[in-house]
Amino acid sequence: MSNRRLRLGAILQGVGMTPEGWKQPGVPTNASINIDWYKKNAKRAEDAKFDFVFIVDSPYITPDSAPHFLNRLEPLTLLSAVAGATTHIGLVATLTTSYNEPFNVARAFASLDLISNGRAGWNVVTTGLEGAAGNYGREVHFPHEVRYRRAKEHLSVVRALWDSYEDDAFSTDKTSRDFLDPSKQHRLDHRGEFFNVAGPLNISRSKQGHPVIFQAGGSEDGRSLAAESADAIFTGQETFEEAQAFYRDIKTRAVQAGRRPDDILIFPGISVIVGSSDEQAQATQAARNGQLDLKKALAQLGRPFNYHDFSQYPIDGPFPDLGDLGSNGYRSHAERIKRIAREEKLTVREAAIRFTVRNSPFVGSPTTVANELQRWFEAGAADGFNIGIGDPNELEKFIQEVVPVLQARGLFRTEYEHDTLRENLGLAIPANRYTEARRAQTQTSPATRHDAHSTAAE
Ligand SMILES: Cc1cc2nc3c(=O)[nH]c(=O)nc-3n(C[C@H](O)[C@H](O)[C@H](O)COP(=O)(O)O)c2cc1C
Repeated sequence: MSNRRLRLGAILQGVGMTPEGWKQPGVPTNASINIDWYKKNAKRAEDAKFDFVFIVDSPYITPDSAPHFLNRLEPLTLLSAVAGATTHIGLVATLTTSYNEPFNVARAFASLDLISNGRAGWNVVTTGLEGAAGNYGREVHFPHEVRYRRAKEHLSVVRALWDSYEDDAFSTDKTSRDFLDPSKQHRLDHRGEFFNVAGPLNISRSKQGHPVIFQAGGSEDGRSLAAESADAIFTGQETFEEAQAFYRDIKTRAVQAGRRPDDILIFPGISVIVGSSDEQAQATQAARNGQLDLKKALAQLGRPFNYHDFSQYPIDGPFPDLGDLGSNGYRSHAERIKRIAREEKLTVREAAIRFTVRNSPFVGSPTTVANELQRWFEAGAADGFNIGIGDPNELEKFIQEVVPVLQARGLFRTEYEHDTLRENLGLAIPANRYTEARRAQTQTSPATRHDAHSTAAE
């Protein structure tokens, strides 16, 4: 029997990312800015042995933004507080490479990683909202390709900065002469297309080596970045078939990039409704979808297209030809909406409903939900799931009724195996590059180098 284990993350999204979610009975109206709410739900997820909690983020809003986006805590700040209230659960924060300097990002995540004793994760995004430019002194948003080139360089600089100190750089022995062994502190002197960074970073590594790198872009460039260099990827594929195709694609790309398929974990972001029966859970979903306010749905439909105003079109007329609108925003979302609207010949009204209403495959009795999670996991559609938490009562139901089924089937842990995020996810701890180079050099002494050379010549 395979000892592969399903992983679980909880997206703590306060008052929610749908227009009506904040009205659910268990959701405090200040949830997105209430640190006690985050601590309480993170602790509950930790009691249930979840791998991580995850915080979404983006730096631009309009009055039409979803309730959680309008008024929320900054992810690293809030997770630093959650770190103090938890001991094992991973803490994953979203931060954009388009409007942050690598030195600041490396420092902030290294701090969260030490504060949490090796539980930090970074969801690397490039920001799809063009309006973000105005908050950072730019006239226009970076083009999509440039964003991903910048992200690639950004991430490699951050990782290099995290290795500034070898793990034994500082003395723990007060009788030794110096606090620092300067040969174990390394400048970077990076000069690249986007960044010039001298280094060294002024903070050492945690026991997981580097924070775990997540990535969430679904375009060609996003997939390549993830496959080449992320530890995990989030995806919004809605059906089993789409998720399977995405999974295959990412694992293939990883292998093409010289990695093993298991070096990157794939986490569909999903919503779950657990009911006393399949019918009851489906009725809950239908009732929720029935609350849809068409005006708000149109506004939400516009978000991947840089808040394009869809109310200007006849509501029962055909979905408009938008040209390449959205290609510089949330590209994969925008392309998917345009493709489906074209293929299914949707009207504007139908598109607003189709892309706002969620018909999740994970709706039903505890057994039905567990069966579907197991099917996706075993049939190569997911390594784990990132579950959107709306009303915390739903998290509670999932923990009490679905988690035990997964545990009884041997699919999910009953205890944490480790206390770092990286190890609990089954990922290797990266060696410090300078320590590794030193080791390689000692192993390849002049004599062995000569031997190796003569062998190769034969
Ligand atoms: C579960 C999940 C969480 C995500 N969280 C964020 C986020 O917090 N911030 C963000 O800018 N993009 C986030 N994304 C990604 C966007 O939804 C979008 O897919 C991506 O930015 C578009 O990238 P692309 O241009 O490569 O298609 C998330 C995606 C998924 C599936």
